[in-house]
Parts: sequence; C-alpha cells; structure tokens
Amino acid sequence: MYIVQIASECAPVIKAGGLGDVVYGLSRELEVRGNCVEIILPMYDCMRYDHIWGLHEAYLDLWVPWYDGAINCSVYCGWVHGRLCFFIQPNSQDNFFNRGNYYGSSDDNLRFAFFSKAALEFLLVSNKRPDIIHCHDWQTGLVPVMLYEIYQYHGMSNQRVCYTIHNFKHQGFAGNEVLRATGLNQESYYYDYDRLRDNFNPFAINFMKGGIVYSNYVNTVSPHHAWEAHYGEEGYGLGHTLELHQSKFSGILNGVDYDVWNPEIDKYIPHHYNIDQLENKAKNKKALREKLLLQDVDKPIIAYIGRLDQQKGVHLVHHAIYYAIHHGAQFVLLGSATEKAINDWFCHEKAFLNDHPDVHLELGFNEELAHLIYAGSDMIIVPSNYEPCGLTQIIGMKYGTVPIVRGVGGLVSTVFDRDYDQNHAPEKRNGYVFYQTDTPALESAMERAISLWYQYPKEFEQLIQQGMEYDFSWNNPGAQYMNVYEFIKA
Ligand code: ADP
Ligand code: GLC
Repeated sequence: MYIVQIASECAPVIKAGGLGDVVYGLSRELEVRGNCVEIILPMYDCMRYDHIWGLHEAYLDLWVPWYDGAINCSVYCGWVHGRLCFFIQPNSQDNFFNRGNYYGSSDDNLRFAFFSKAALEFLLVSNKRPDIIHCHDWQTGLVPVMLYEIYQYHGMSNQRVCYTIHNFKHQGFAGNEVLRATGLNQESYYYDYDRLRDNFNPFAINFMKGGIVYSNYVNTVSPHHAWEAHYGEEGYGLGHTLELHQSKFSGILNGVDYDVWNPEIDKYIPHHYNIDQLENKAKNKKALREKLLLQDVDKPIIAYIGRLDQQKGVHLVHHAIYYAIHHGAQFVLLGSATEKAINDWFCHEKAFLNDHPDVHLELGFNEELAHLIYAGSDMIIVPSNYEPCGLTQIIGMKYGTVPIVRGVGGLVSTVFDRDYDQNHAPEKRNGYVFYQTDTPALESAMERAISLWYQYPKEFEQLIQQGMEYDFSWNNPGAQYMNVYEFIKA
C-alpha cells in the first residue's frame, strides 16, 4: 500500500512530544510491513537538520492557492533515519515556519491551514496518489475537508483518510478568514452545524471537528482514552461529534520504536543492558549522577520527563520533587514549559534547589539526556490530569524504570498496580497507579514504591523485570492500523 503521513512533527528531526515519536515509529513499522511510506512536514527553521540525510530541493515549482492569489513554495526532500520526508517551505517574506519554534504563534491556525493546503497541492502537482493519507492532530484537521471539498474534483477521488487525534484539548479554532484563505469559501461549511462549525462557538470553525467529520476513519491513541473522549469530559466538547461518527471511531494504543528506545542498543547511554543484565543499569545510574552532579548514595532516583503543562499535572510533579527528597529518594526532572507562568515557577525552583545534592531540574528539551535519565532512574512519575496515551511510562518500562502513574487515559491501558490491580495476575503487574488528583494519592503511591525499593530489593527487581517483559513495540498497533487502512481503502 502507498501511505502518506501529513503531520507537524516527526522525531527526531521535529519533536515537541510524543506526536513526533509516533509519526516516525508508525511510518517505520508500516515500511517493515512492506508498504511505501512518505511523510510531509513543514520546513521549520528550528528543526534538527543534523538528523536529515541528503536534503535537497525537489524539482518542483509549487504554487499554493491562498486567498485570491498563490504563495510560492519550495519542497525539499531528505531521509530521516531511513524515512523519506518532504519538507514544505513557503518562499514569502512572512515565512510561516521561520518562527524559532514549532508552535505558539498567534497565527498558528493560518500557518497549519496553509501547511495542510500545501501538502495536498504538493500531492496533486507531483502526481502522487497514495491509497491512504494519514493525518495527525488539529494541525492537519483540514486536510480531509479540503480533499473532499476541493481536491477530489482535481483527480484525487480515490484517496482515503485516517485521522489520528493525539490531543483533544488543542482543536484549532479560526474565523472564516481561514475558509477564504483555503478556498473553502462556501458559506455552508461555516454555518452547517454538523460540518466545521464549533459545537459551542457559532462564530468559529473547528479544525479537529472537520477532521473527524470528513475522515474515513478516526482514532485516538488508546482504547481507554477513546472511551473518555466519547463519553467523558476528555473530548473537550467533541463528544457529541464522536457520538455521531462512532462507527468510524476507535482507540489504538501507541507503540514505541524499540530501535530508538532500547537499552540494549541505545547510542546515548554508556552501558547497554537487558532484562538479565540489570547490574549495567546500575552503572548508568552512576553515570547519570556524575553528569547531573548528584551525590552517589544508596537511594532510588525518581524521574519526570515531559512537557511542564497543566495536562501533565504540574502541581503533582512539583509536589513529587519535595516528597522524594524528604523520603529518602533523589529526583531528576527534564521538562519544558511553554506557558510563561509555569516556566517561571520551575526556574524559581531550580534556583532554589540548585545546591541540593539529591535534586536536578533540567529545563528545556534534551533528547540525548532523556535517554540517560530513562536508563539511570529507578522510577518515573506520570501524574497527568489527562493522558491520551503517554509514552514516558512505556519507554520507562523498557529501560527497567518502574512507572508511578495516575490512572487516566493510556496510563490505564499500560500500567497495572503491583499491589491492587484486580485484572492482572501478580506476575503481570508492572508499576504503581493512583487515581485522585490530590497530593495524598500521589504520596501513597510514591511511598509504596520507595518502601519496596528499600525493604524488598528482590521484589523491586522482579517488578522491574515484569515491566521489561511487556511488548509495547509497534508490531501490534501496526497490525491494527493496517486493518484500518484495508477497511477504508478505495
Ligand atoms: P506528550 O506527547 O503529551 O508530550 P508523551 O509521553 O506521549 O507526551 O511523549 C513525550 C515524548 O517527548 C517522549 O519521547 C519523551 O521522552 C519526550 N520528551 C518530553 N519532554 C522532553 C524534554 N524536555 N526533553 C527531551 N525529551 C522530552
Ligand atoms: C499527545 C498526548 C500523549 C500521546 C502523544 C502521542 O501529545 O498528550 O498522551 O502519547 O500525543 O500520541
């Protein structure tokens, strides 16, 4: 099958979070299964060019219709660790992707509407006719809309769309200027409640809703989160739309690329190991301490790796730092905040805890350091408010780092409490789970983990091994996506 992914991230070249991992890892799995896969991305100025091989301009003069005129674009192509990627760069003065960051501009909705339009125009002009177009998140929600309303009349009527929602909270809202810009300028798109108009704001169009309505198949990234989004609050107002389209909606749990995240071959960690060589994990712990200037004492290291955002339960992350150091553990945090208030808060904590021998707070994005933290820590916390899938607990388990998570979304589908889980036999349990969003709930889970580490090291090691035994590779989700593609293919 010929599959084109259209997305705003692809790891490691463009990665703000798990979306990047998924676009890369899924594409690789699909290729292993014999498909032809290409990825279309924006050409950001701030992406990691050092991870692209053979970057050159594709011979193509791309004029993307925009408002009443057209914007000229260059399309570059190159290989990202074996995946063929096309990068779209508008050649106008106000280049949409030269902003020094991936997201966060006030005109993000226009930028990604343009990207979506340009991606389709690129397929059209370069005569690419994939069987499946796979789009991700709000940034590409307008792709299926434009495909159906515009491009199918230009010879693209056999292309089918799978739309994956990684985060319902960010939906992409815009006024009708986006309709004028993209050529979706018929009033009906705007006023028809069941198409693009937001469910709550009659003056806004909603990209993600468009993606749901116009795609041939829609999924989110874990079965439990699919349920939460459909029936609970986690659909952020799109529950009704999912209800209308429930026959084409499901949850497919993300995988993790074990060629990238694997302590046996990881190029960013000094000592390789597997389930039978946990003494080498201890050497990585030592290396981590040396790197971050933590004292070398007989204590467990608890880690947090992730965006510092309300979604991630930042108040609990903050509380965990102090709980850890007051209860015999060390704490390592690697996090990036996009909101200024949260960034200021953690900068302040970092300054305050600077000389503490048991804490290291690293603010910013650091892919290489993340690998060493997964390998060198004993436990990883994920106290999220909501979590569509969550990759850090899954990666943690592969590295023998025991997850302590809040029981929501994909965390429910992947972590099974050592002491209380009723649905899994004791030898299938792999971590600690708490449910409330208050600090006592978090503390009780952390306390159970820290006590086991100190008092029953053999049992703790067994828990590590039970986590390492799980297979969260792309094998299983890859098969599920193939079923979806076969099902919707023309
Ligand atoms: P989300 O996509 O909501 O941010 P996930 O758990 O799905 O969360 O994925 C997070 C991915 O981003 C993981 O690969 C994690 O290692 C990585 N990551 C998050 N924050 C950082 C950071 N500050 N530095 C390096 N890697 C990070
Ligand atoms: C989103 C979600 C996260 C998920 C990731 C990859 O950013 O917040 O839970 O793992 O996408 O699908």
